[in-house]
Amino acid sequence: MDIAQQIKSQLDIVRVISDYVPRLRRFGNRYSCLCPFHNEKTPSFSVYADHQFYKCFGCDARGDVFNFVMSIENITFWEALKKLAEQNGLPLPKQSQVSDEKTRARGALREMHEIAVEHFRGNLAGPNGARARDYLTGRGVAPPSIESFQLGLADSSGRALLRLLEQRGFRQEQLAESGLFGRRDDGTLYDRFRNRLMFPIYDESGKPIAFGGRALDPGENAKYVNSSETEIYKKSNVLYNLNRAKQTAAKIDRIVMVEGYMDVIGATQAGVAEVVAICGTALTVEQIRAMKRHSQNLHLNLDADSAGNKAAERSVKLLLDENVRVRVVELEGGLDPDEYCKEHGAETYRERIAKAKPYFYWLADRARGKFDLRDPQGRNDIFQFLLPAIQALRDKIERVSVANDLASYLGIESGLVLEHFRKMAADKSERASAPPKVNSKRPADRILLLSLLAAEEGRDELIQALRGVSGWNQSPAAGIYRTIVSMHDSGSAIAFHSLHERLEPGDQNLLASLVLDSEGGATTVEDGMACIEAMRREERESAARDLKGKIKVAEREGKLEEAFELMRQLAQMSETPVRG
Ligand code: CTP
Ligand code: MN
Repeated sequence: MDIAQQIKSQLDIVRVISDYVPRLRRFGNRYSCLCPFHNEKTPSFSVYADHQFYKCFGCDARGDVFNFVMSIENITFWEALKKLAEQNGLPLPKQSQVSDEKTRARGALREMHEIAVEHFRGNLAGPNGARARDYLTGRGVAPPSIESFQLGLADSSGRALLRLLEQRGFRQEQLAESGLFGRRDDGTLYDRFRNRLMFPIYDESGKPIAFGGRALDPGENAKYVNSSETEIYKKSNVLYNLNRAKQTAAKIDRIVMVEGYMDVIGATQAGVAEVVAICGTALTVEQIRAMKRHSQNLHLNLDADSAGNKAAERSVKLLLDENVRVRVVELEGGLDPDEYCKEHGAETYRERIAKAKPYFYWLADRARGKFDLRDPQGRNDIFQFLLPAIQALRDKIERVSVANDLASYLGIESGLVLEHFRKMAADKSERASAPPKVNSKRPADRILLLSLLAAEEGRDELIQALRGVSGWNQSPAAGIYRTIVSMHDSGSAIAFHSLHERLEPGDQNLLASLVLDSEGGATTVEDGMACIEAMRREERESAARDLKGKIKVAEREGKLEEAFELMRQLAQMSETPVRG
């Protein structure tokens, strides 16, 4: 067994996946949930404990435990391997043996970030950090928050981090690709962050991958500077604080989304731990998917200025398309969450969140400010403004009910415009959603394949018997049988995933539909042998029919000698024992 197989054999795919998707439902040996890789309303994603395999019948995402972690974390095979080994306390051989170039480069990036976090934290705690500590105190950031968000300080030298990482042996090209440095015209590097308060940005599993740096000097022209994008940091994929927010989010089934770092810290201090920030980006589908694995109930708490409102409008559409239920938190006085908590206290802020209205009331309020309700044209404009957000709802009954609620919220009880609006809301064509139900047409193939996969000890015997019949060549599953036999001959380990990997796409689907959806108990070698015997019997019967036909023809044509010979063959055939 190679190292990957060894690690895999000690992992349970159901447990690993449930760390990422907390709401797995169990049906016998199958687990099901909404697919984390595409948008859907009814679950077509399944995890098969028996086969240690996952498959989505909606988007066709599938694979073993490594494939899952690679796709969901967007990491390489070796990174997934290391991560799973580490998390589960499984030993790994030396670095060099389990790596490829890309993984090593990414490993160096991660290491540089670990070192940088410690370096910046040291600065903040040290003698030169007094001013920054005062700044944080002034902004109400308590020492436990400094600790848990691992805040730090970049000094003003412009080269301290560069020197440190050089000393630790990182090469210039590694440093240049870290996102932590700028490059002068003469090619030399300098610290990107100078005299800034440093916020480490973490990936979903809590490893630092980038930094945001806030100016401490009010005269500084850029309030925030961010790491540039790297191999491990794509700004639009990251939600700040998701690594910490996700536990609470899953527990209370709610996520609060704010604009920036300070808002996250303020909200967390106010007892709202399920908070993440988009950090000045336009919300992306990647961010939504990362978030909605933990909860599908989102409270948007973006800044209330006009840019923030526009951003919220855009985000609502995107969120509804992803089936996220959206409420909008409104804070009076145009304050951001951090300012609001300080001005009105934690209690009031939590109340604001609890009272957040469903997005469509918030949109209606926005519309009221923009258009004139007394005028038919104004009413028309309002409805046009609201329609896309309503049409994004998949469920017709829900659309109609929201349309009615909105009309009464706006105080519009009758009129042609309202009728038109209701009709438009109701009429949107339903999208086809339910995944095609797979069922196996040939139960014998299903049983035989299951027993070939399950029966480690009896497999030799089964494959031997399989060679003795040819009936399976006509089976739709012929390609699968051939692959199993050739894997067996070459001594490869036969398991669902290793077999699946070697098949053509058509056969992969067939295998999945035959094997994965089967309920019921274990399939034994005897079950498999019975299928092969049935094939053999079928073969003999068809050969016998064939011979009898030929005998008749020979007799009719007076070819007696030939008829005798054929009869002899027929008699011999029925003497052969069924099991060879
Ligand atoms: N941001 C950024 N680059 C900028 C400005 C903002 O990356 N030039 C991101 C930061 O993540 C910031 C967020 O957008 O936290 C929101 O920006 P803003 O509202 O201006 O800052 P606050 O978070 O309110 O920070 P502070 O309270 O310290 O002013
Ligand atoms: Mn702020």
